[in-house]
Amino acid sequence: AGGREVLGEVQPFLTLIESRDDLALQLKNNYPLKDIFVVRGDAEENAFVKEELARLMAEELTEALSPGTVVSVAGGSTMALVSKFLRPKHDNLLFVPARGGLGEEPAYQSNDIVANLAEAAEGQHRILYAPDSISEASLESLKAEPMVREIIDLNRRSAFLIHGIGDALEMARRRKVDEETLRILTEGEAVGETFGFYFNADGELVHKVKTIGLQLGDLDKKESIFAVAGGESKKEAVKAYLKLAPENTILIIDEVIARHLLA
Ligand code: G3H
Repeated sequence: AGGREVLGEVQPFLTLIESRDDLALQLKNNYPLKDIFVVRGDAEENAFVKEELARLMAEELTEALSPGTVVSVAGGSTMALVSKFLRPKHDNLLFVPARGGLGEEPAYQSNDIVANLAEAAEGQHRILYAPDSISEASLESLKAEPMVREIIDLNRRSAFLIHGIGDALEMARRRKVDEETLRILTEGEAVGETFGFYFNADGELVHKVKTIGLQLGDLDKKESIFAVAGGESKKEAVKAYLKLAPENTILIIDEVIARHLLA
């Protein structure tokens, strides 16, 4: 593939994206993923870099979509930016929350994010009314609810999943997890988190938030998984995530993470 350079919309004087050349190419030699994109800079140092990650995700997702596609959507602050860059292009798109509540503030919950994505793409969305960390019994009876059943089925047959990756302890703090969960994460040496699954440096599951929806084992059945992350503090999380990521993953990261993966 030839080199492709895209000028950032927000900082047109800077070349923000490097996709098929340099860093991305070296990464592709080391990691057998479907595709890898690298945005220059550090998303934690520069808000424009985080926007570029979201813009790239919106762009690549639009390329992959076709009319009537179902997309599973995870939460987080990076995912919350994606709708800003999504444009209507395909009819009857349907965005569904990948999992129920994870203890996030509303703006970072997938219920909010799917609504914004659907509005931007002029598509449809579904809401999943499932709180986080409820009892096994309540979880089971919720699963029997027709509205919840529908979301579970949609997630099973969705073609794509889009999600962020976070630092494990940072995500735990943000979601104000209880002492016991914090102990499990610390003792299990969790380094990364993605849609409620916490994993260690070997990509092994340490803890999962008890809620409804997509499971890690469902990922390799998707046409593509779009995973996005940027920022120095997430470099170990992304490195670990790549140990569990299926080959149908399209990884969108910033330069600081890319360099760490190659170090
Ligand atoms: O589930 C959330 C992600 O793991 C990361 O969230 O994009 O706000 O860093 P973030």
